[in-house]
Amino acid sequence: MAGLDTKRIGQNVQAYDTVVSTQPLAHEAAAKGAPEGTLVIAEQQTGGKGRLGRVWHSPKGTGIWMSLIVRPVIPLPKTPQMTLLTAVAVAKTMQEETGVAVKIKWPNDIFVGDRKVCGVLTELNAEADRVNYLVIGIGINANAVAADFPEELRAIATSLVIESGTTVNRVRFIQRFCRIFEAEYDHYLQHGFDRIKTEWEACSYTIGRWVTVKTIHSTLEGRAVGLDEEGVLIVEDAAGTRHKVYSADVNYGAN
Ligand code: BTN
Repeated sequence: MAGLDTKRIGQNVQAYDTVVSTQPLAHEAAAKGAPEGTLVIAEQQTGGKGRLGRVWHSPKGTGIWMSLIVRPVIPLPKTPQMTLLTAVAVAKTMQEETGVAVKIKWPNDIFVGDRKVCGVLTELNAEADRVNYLVIGIGINANAVAADFPEELRAIATSLVIESGTTVNRVRFIQRFCRIFEAEYDHYLQHGFDRIKTEWEACSYTIGRWVTVKTIHSTLEGRAVGLDEEGVLIVEDAAGTRHKVYSADVNYGAN
C-alpha cells in the first residue's frame, strides 16, 4: 500500500470492487503463496461470512471489508490468540482514529455500548500440527448511517460515523490498523501472549459480567473473570468453580 511504513502487514494488497466474500479469495491467494501480511479488500460483499455460518451484511462503500493473511510460527492450540490480538489491534485503531470508546466482547466482537461495530472471523489452514496460514476476516461498520442497516440490525449494530459524527477516512484507518497490528504481532511473536492478554482484558466488555455460555452439550452460567495464559475465557460459577470456555456463544445476564 503506497505510503505505508510497515515491513509486511498491508504491503501486498488485492483490492476488489464487488466480491462474494474476501475470505475464499484470501485462502486462494495464501494457497498460491501470497506473502504474510497480504490484505484482500473489497468495496462490497454479496455473501459476506460471519461466525457460526451467519451472514455478514457488507454493502457498498460504507464499510471496511478485508481479510488478512498471516503465517505465524506458533503451536496450533495457540491460534485463537491471533483472534484476540486482532481484536485488540482493531480496538486500538478505532480509539486512535475516531476517539470512540470501544469494548471487546469475547472473543472477537467490537462493541460501542451494547451495539456491534466490528466482527472478526479467523479461519485456519493447518497440516498435521503445523499452521500453514490464517485468514483473519475483519468487518468494520465505518460510514454506515442507520438507514444503511437492514431493519433487523438497527437495534444491535452501529458504525463509527454514527458514534463519532465524523466520516472515517478508510484508507487512513486501514494504514493505521496495519501499523498497530504489525507492532502487536511482532511483540507477540517475540515475547508471547502476556501483553495482548493485558490489553484485551483492559478493554473487555465481557470480564466482570454474568454470562450464560451455551455449547452443543451444555449450558454454563457464571461470572467471566479473565483470560488464562492461553487466551481461554475463565468463567466462575455460583459455587466458585472455575471453567474454561473455548468456543461458544456467550450471552449476558443481569447479575
Ligand atoms: C462475525 O462477527 O460474525 C465476523 C464477521 C466477519 C466479517 C468479515 S468482512 C471481511 C471478511 N469477509 C467475510 O466474508 N467475512 C469477513
